[in-house]
Formats: sequence, C-alpha cells, structure tokens
Amino acid sequence: MMGIHQLRCTGCAREIAQETLGGNFRCADCGDLFEVVYPGWNGAGHTHPNPSALRWLWRERRMSAETVDRSGVWRFREMLPILSDERNIVSLGEGNTPLYELPRLAERLGMQRVRAKHQGMNPTGSFKDTGMTAALSVARERGFTWVACASTGNTSAAMAAYAARAGMRSLVLLPEGKISWGKLAQAIDYGALVLQLKTDFDGCVRVLAEVVSRAPVYLLNSVNPYRIEGQKTPALEIAEQMEWEVPEHVIVPGGNLANSSALGKGFMEMKRLGLTARVPKISIIQADGANPLVRSMRETGGERLEAVEAQTRASAIRIGNPASWRKAVRVVRETGGLVEQVSEAEIAVAKAEIGAEGIGCEPASAVSLAGLKKLRQQEKVSAEASVVLLLTGHTLKDPDYTIQFHRGELLTEAECTAMAAEIRELRRNTVELEARPDAVLRELELAGR
Ligand code: F0G
Repeated sequence: MMGIHQLRCTGCAREIAQETLGGNFRCADCGDLFEVVYPGWNGAGHTHPNPSALRWLWRERRMSAETVDRSGVWRFREMLPILSDERNIVSLGEGNTPLYELPRLAERLGMQRVRAKHQGMNPTGSFKDTGMTAALSVARERGFTWVACASTGNTSAAMAAYAARAGMRSLVLLPEGKISWGKLAQAIDYGALVLQLKTDFDGCVRVLAEVVSRAPVYLLNSVNPYRIEGQKTPALEIAEQMEWEVPEHVIVPGGNLANSSALGKGFMEMKRLGLTARVPKISIIQADGANPLVRSMRETGGERLEAVEAQTRASAIRIGNPASWRKAVRVVRETGGLVEQVSEAEIAVAKAEIGAEGIGCEPASAVSLAGLKKLRQQEKVSAEASVVLLLTGHTLKDPDYTIQFHRGELLTEAECTAMAAEIRELRRNTVELEARPDAVLRELELAGR
C-alpha cells in the first residue's frame, strides 16, 4: 500500500517532502495550503494496477474480517498511500455510507432522480470521520501524543473519538455557546480537553494557530492535507455505488470549504487513473448569513475573499473566513460547478423535507437540498440530470433545532413569510394529552382527515 507522497503548495506549486511540512501546514513561501500528490501517478508509466483490478479488490475487501479492509476509507488505500506502516491506522469502521434515493423529493422537483450520500451515517455521525481516520493515523505514525482542532462541533467529536481509540490526548477549541449539545457531549464523552472560548469559530482558529506553534500538538483542522485524503473517499464510494458512472451534479454545503475540495480531488484523481470517464459538476451552497465564497465569486470571480461576520442557525457552517477557499474555487472552476446561497427558512424547510423522507440530517446538511431547489428554479439543473446531494451530519447532532422548528419557535415571522405554506405543511408538533384511549383515538381521527 505504501508509496512515496509529496506535498504541493496549491498557491505557488512548490513541492516539498512530507518531513519538511511546518506545524501550521502552510507554505513558507506564499502562505497557501498544501495538497498531497503522488508522483508515481503521473504520465503513462504510472505504477498503479489497472482500474478493473482495483474495482474488484476494493469490493472484495468489504467481505474481509480485517477492520482496515472493511473501512470505507482504507479499503481504497491504493488511492491514499500516506502511511509508512499500516499498523498505525486508527479506524472506527468509517465510510461505506448509504446512497439513498429521494423519490418524493425528486417528484416535487420535477426530476427523474435525486440521491443523497449520507455521510452522517459514519461512526461519530458526520463526514469528518473519513478525514479523521487518515490524519489521525498520520499523527500517530509521527509519534504525537496530543492532537488539536478548532471546531463548530463535528470535527471535535470525530477527533476526540479517534484520539481516544489511539490512546492519544485531544485538545478542542470551541466557540462558546455556538455549537450544538450533541456535538459538545460527544467531545466530552470521548475524553477531550474541551475549551470553550469567548469568540466565534474563526477566532478559535486564530488562537489555535499560535498554540500549535508553541506546543508539540498536531493540528487536525482541515488545513491538514491528510484530512483531505480521507475525505475524498466518499467520491470513490459514490462512483462505486453508481457502477462507476458519476452523477452530473454533486451538491455540497460549504463552511470551511475543505469537503468540496476533497470530493473534487477524489473525482479528478479517479478520472486521471481511468476509473471513471468524467467528473461531476461540484456545486457549493452556503447559508446567506455565512456566505464569503458566494460573495467572492460574485464580486471578484473567486480571485479574492473577504472574511464576513458569520450568522446562521446551521451552526456547523457558521464560518466567515474559510481556510480552504482557494481550493474550493479551483474545484468549482475545474468541474464547472456553481455557487449559491440559501436563507434560514429555506434551510429549515429542506431539513424537514429530508426528515419526512425518513432520512434526516443536521441543519448544515440540508443546505445542499435547499441549494438544489434554487438551482432547479434557475434552470441550472435539468430535469434529467442525475444529482447526488451530500448530507454531512446526522439528524441527532442537533435535535434542539428540529424541535424548535416543529414547535414554530425556530424562525422569526419575517423569516417565515416567503415560505409560510411549506412550513405549515411540514410542521409536526407533539400533542399533550390525558392518558385516556378515547383522547388518543380522537387525535388519530383528526390526523387521518
Ligand atoms: N456540514 C457539517 C455537518 C459540518 O460539520 C461542516 C463543517 C460542513 C458541512 C462544512 O464542511 O467546512 O468542509 O466546508 N464543520 C466543521 C467542524 C468546520 O468544525 O466540524 P467544510
């Protein structure tokens, strides 16, 4: 499995050996982020098995008794030869997540088919697990005792779990009062040192940058290029689940903008290796109160990005200064994807619609459906197009949001006006009753009408 990899700066293209990477993961020359490259893959003489042998091997491994073979990240390990020794792998059996059909939603959107890749069905309930198994295994191989991240919640939950599995310590910096209880509970339960700072996510990132420069702590935010190697594997799974066809569109929520870049890398590498014939258009959707990429694309064509003060109830993507924005711009440009923003009401409605399909997701994930609806209205996605939505987190990550929506306590009246009818149709409040059968029967009758 093990090959030689290098790191290439995504800004100035400088290539460096892995050992020379600084603790902040930024290029000493231009300050941009690195990506992992595999020199053996270039040109006709690449050292890879042929595509059909790989596809067969990856499917066979799912039947293996070994955790590493069954993992939805490491069964594709030929695509991420980043470790020197497989015994350093820390796995919780991540990946292998379902690709669900959404037939009722497709019908409502006038489309033939809409599917959802549910990354919330990972061990800690979010897509972060696929990146964490990769980068935390690297931390272990490099001999670190401590790992750290700043987070809106999911990264911290994933990091704390994988660190605990490896017998390592983890430091979590969170914006005080701005993450959901489910995620906070996970980080505590998995034994992290949890520090809630009086700032937002972007402030936590700034503080952590200095901490890692002054203490021997391995940074596990998505500036870490090994996270991206794990997070590209859902692209492989989507292709595999579609018999090595790829959809026309993949729609992703955007926060710190690492996930969109990771999926783009995955799809582009598959094409380069002859595993698939083309790449999907990768589109990124942001909440309109946390929309620095949308603004950057509209105002400067993606040349510059101005940080914003982020506001959204989808707390996972409440990010104003996304680290991986240049990588994301590149993926959107290279794949022909789109960038769009959606309102708080559009997010809440989309989340309830995904729930009503029996699937559910956290608010930040529903942004992808809200985005698809908008792109359909603008006729940027055709009725025949095959679409895969990325659902990034599990519905149980943020039950407060769900309950508030259904009780009518989430949105302000002004936010509701444009979507009042949809909201009324989707809301399912609970009813408090006397413990008498006839009272229950009456409710049943009322609901059946
Ligand atoms: N969806 C969920 C559920 C997330 O937790 C995040 C990011 C995103 C979407 C956006 O992904 O940052 O790669 O663009 N959560 C981070 C965290 C930042 O700390 O858990 P992105």
